[in-house]
Amino acid sequence: MNEAIYRPGLEGIIAGETSISSIADGLRYRGYPIEQLAQYSTFEEVAYLVLHGELPTRAQLDFFTGQLRQAMELPQEIVSTLRDIPADVPMMDVMRTGASLLGHWDPQAQDISAQATLDKAVRLVARLPLVMCYRHRLRSGQEVVPPEPGRSVAWNILWMLRGQEPQPDHVRALDVTLILYVEHEFNASTFTARVVASTLSDLHSAVTAAIGALKGPLHGGANERVMDYLSKLSSAEEAETWVKQALERKERIMGFGHRVYRTGDPRAAILAPYCEQLARQTGNEAMEAVAGRIEQVVREQKNIPPNVDYPAGRLYYYLGLPVDLYTPLFVISRTVGWSAHVLEQQAANRLIRPRARYVGAEPRDYVPVEQRG
Ligand code: CMC
Repeated sequence: MNEAIYRPGLEGIIAGETSISSIADGLRYRGYPIEQLAQYSTFEEVAYLVLHGELPTRAQLDFFTGQLRQAMELPQEIVSTLRDIPADVPMMDVMRTGASLLGHWDPQAQDISAQATLDKAVRLVARLPLVMCYRHRLRSGQEVVPPEPGRSVAWNILWMLRGQEPQPDHVRALDVTLILYVEHEFNASTFTARVVASTLSDLHSAVTAAIGALKGPLHGGANERVMDYLSKLSSAEEAETWVKQALERKERIMGFGHRVYRTGDPRAAILAPYCEQLARQTGNEAMEAVAGRIEQVVREQKNIPPNVDYPAGRLYYYLGLPVDLYTPLFVISRTVGWSAHVLEQQAANRLIRPRARYVGAEPRDYVPVEQRG
């Protein structure tokens, strides 16, 4: 075994090939810069692009959108389970269970052909928003609000949560976050999905495992954790004191830093103006001022820029979304990327099975329990 290629956390290791996204020259999905997709496109169009490799024609987009909208329904058994899960179960655990449960009612659950995987991906992207929104309403003692056919995923998420027609600028802001969360190369959850797919397991298994990986605060869970401190700090001065002390204690400030973007996450820059505008509209300028001061101090003291989760967490807060739905929203979007990677892995599969460097006890012989001291 070549010791020279061992790196903790696989940092900098090329662990496979992909044609889905690249981060060398800014973030691009299938070659298109994320800035252009965020400005001109929609979550549905980007989902098609990432899953199929090309931007859709009008007819292809209409067909794909129709497929998604038709699939926006849940079997009654799943709705009952969402009602019965204990009220204090974390939302990300419910999403993980939801992805697995959806497989039980999917007629192609065990079919790992490319066509079946694509069809299942569409159903997962259509149904995971229902899992999230229905669960939220049921745990709050409210009846579910079914989706409106003919409306987008972003529109329906706000509609199903609130039971009121959402404002177009709220829908657009949410849609942009969904576009930005779709895909990001070999991040921890996507790599998890690919490992599962490489054993010739199925899409629901890969997505269920990936949700477990996304939950952690070093990955998707960070968009919720930014609210742990932002919601407690009431002025820029208080924020400055807190962040300086936290950095002195060598704490990690959630929403900052990135394994591969050392000089800045392009997704954070795209979201910043949406965040500012929504903050003004919803009377949350004070939180923006707090966030701005924290960013300034972390940059000055550690030279670490914010990542996508810093503005995304704030933006979801300004939209009035419950904090524990922030990472589930990431799940809904990233299911597209995970599915594209499962398809790519299946198309040229080789079992992912790396080696470990052994650092344990020297070889030794078994000692019967009576003779152990
Ligand atoms: N706050 C304070 N210091 C930090 C942070 C941070 N958020 N991130 C990195 N550092 C420091 C780290 O302590 C180390 O300092 P030193 O050299 O003095 O020990 C230095 O920067 C280099 O960090 P690293 O450990 O090499 O970074 P990494 O590549 O292992 O970590 C990361 C990447 C994302 C896990 C990390 O930046 C972090 O923990 N960030 C906070 C969690 C977060 O926001 N995650 C979201 C990631 S982006 C999107 C997503 O996946 O959701």
